[in-house]
Amino acid sequence: MDMPFVSNLYNISGKIAVVTGGAGVLCAAMCRALAAAGAKVAVLDLNAEAAEALAAELRSIGADAISVACNVLDRDSIETAAQIVQLKFGGVDILINGAGGNRPEAATNPEQVFFDLPAEALRWVFDLNLMGTILPTQVFGKLMARQKNGAILNISSLNASRPLTRIPAYSAAKAGISNFTQWLAVHMAQEYSAEIRVNAIAPGFFLTEQNRFLLTENEAGDLTPRGQSILSHTPMKRFGKPEDLLGTLLWLVSPAAAFVTGIVVPVDGGFSAFSGV
Ligand SMILES: NC(=O)c1ccc[n+]([C@@H]2O[C@H](COP(=O)([O-])OP(=O)(O)OC[C@H]3O[C@@H](n4cnc5c(N)ncnc54)[C@H](O)[C@@H]3O)[C@@H](O)[C@H]2O)c1
Repeated sequence: MDMPFVSNLYNISGKIAVVTGGAGVLCAAMCRALAAAGAKVAVLDLNAEAAEALAAELRSIGADAISVACNVLDRDSIETAAQIVQLKFGGVDILINGAGGNRPEAATNPEQVFFDLPAEALRWVFDLNLMGTILPTQVFGKLMARQKNGAILNISSLNASRPLTRIPAYSAAKAGISNFTQWLAVHMAQEYSAEIRVNAIAPGFFLTEQNRFLLTENEAGDLTPRGQSILSHTPMKRFGKPEDLLGTLLWLVSPAAAFVTGIVVPVDGGFSAFSGV
């Protein structure tokens, strides 16, 4: 084995990466890592201001980065974003489907039983997580199919394999993402190219805006009983930090994972391995 091969395993320098929901907590960390690894980064987000602030930050440290306002639930908006990315960068090599989230109205609690959860809130969660992954994949995946090369990374969750209490729509939507990841990996390899790979990361518990209402209960950030229960079921005894996702990210989008497709990698401090005893 030659050493240049080994030193190039994680080389994504010059690759063009599109990150949806790129201005969010976890995906902003991913954008910074991709830029630090030499990739050109397109930060796509509904929040155009936050996306541009991040792109400007990346440019200020010498990276090639742009922001593009994009709604992952609107095919026209995604098509327009793809045109802008192609115009500015000339193509796409990596797609991170990061836009996603949950809503208190779609979670059960003592005052809000499952039978009465509003359909609108449930549909919002399904749409944002599942359709918000499938629609951008149709648009950017088509470009990858044409060039017969690319890496797609979806963001599932540990509750895809075993649902957590209280959040039925989010759990089912993330299960859909894990399933879609496998389906698309097979489809791309069989129909277009074995060099289009599709994988997912399943983050464990990262204290962020989407779950703060479930895990902490006051200004001081004291843990709710649910937050305490999570830590007691996490062998590593802490919540994840966005940086914890970066090694898996860089592995899955780089040549190091050239023969890896259709997998969902838990990054959860051992939560999914622990029986509780
Ligand atoms: N935080 C966790 O513990 C955790 C755990 C498992 C999985 N995840 C998943 O990781 C991903 C990122 O989570 P996060 O905690 O960083 O969330 P976040 O809320 O910080 O970021 C989500 C981003 O998506 C953007 N967005 C929302 N709707 C959009 C739309 N329609 N079109 C385009 N952009 C849109 C938001 O503006 C925001 O910038 C999500 O898919 C989430 O479900 C998070």
